[in-house]
Amino acid sequence: MNKYAVWGNPIEQSKSPQIQQHFAAQHNIALQYERILGDEVRFEQQLQDFFAAGGQGCNITAPFKERAFRLADQHSERCLSAEACNTLKKMPDGRLYADNTDGAGLVSDLQRLDWLKPNNTILILGAGGATKGVLMPLLQAQQKIIVANRTLNKAQQLAEKLQSYGTIQAVALDQIPDQRFDVVINATSLGLQGKVVEIQTDILQKCGAAYDMQYSKGEDTPFLALAKKCGTTRTTDGIGMLIGQAAHAFELWFGVMPDSQRLLQQGV
Ligand code: ATR
Repeated sequence: MNKYAVWGNPIEQSKSPQIQQHFAAQHNIALQYERILGDEVRFEQQLQDFFAAGGQGCNITAPFKERAFRLADQHSERCLSAEACNTLKKMPDGRLYADNTDGAGLVSDLQRLDWLKPNNTILILGAGGATKGVLMPLLQAQQKIIVANRTLNKAQQLAEKLQSYGTIQAVALDQIPDQRFDVVINATSLGLQGKVVEIQTDILQKCGAAYDMQYSKGEDTPFLALAKKCGTTRTTDGIGMLIGQAAHAFELWFGVMPDSQRLLQQGV
């Protein structure tokens, strides 16, 4: 039996088991995939025990992505750029390969929405882990990026690090240039507190589309509610990105890309 899992703390909320089981069914793969509550102290040992007991791969979610990154033996380029790992795979020689599929998941979702045109200008709000995870794949997809963050210095560090991959610029949240953005992406953590990042509302009035990396069942996230209030007609939350990152993880493990669209239509 294929033995996989998702690790996090908390973990009950994770939709990864349903998503991966759906993908496995698409390809007639028998999959054992469980949620595991990571221990804040013993996480590394737990993970090593899991692989020693036959585990073949896993997803990693908060707060362990950086620790999994450090534990792995080998990393994909996008994982090195993110400095965080959301997918681990045990290689034939027993060593652990780390990937980060978050950015690829976002790019796939933007493609699905038909929001990913070459040379689009994308405004990303926030410069934390969520942003770091997606910058390289977005730049490789020829998106021009402005990262706006409350702490300017963090955005500047990211822009500097990634400038060889494309056009990327850093600004403070209150210094966002007065221009039209094709897509505004919320990558701040504020929605978790029911809050929305403070930016001039004309940025949302003028933008082509608004994307929230967070998702919520039933009602709009605070960011999307604000975007709609400002008149943005094309809006979406991050459920497609969640399914997309899972699809890219599945591909890493099993060598086939599952159909995300079918799952999105069905709902998770
Ligand atoms: P994540 O891994 O979810 O990205 P994080 O690394 O803690 O979490 O980053 C949170 C992001 O939300 C950061 O960009 C943070 O801005 P700072 O770098 O200035 O801290 C942003 N954020 C959190 N609270 C905020 C607030 N009240 N106003 C504006 N931005 C906020």
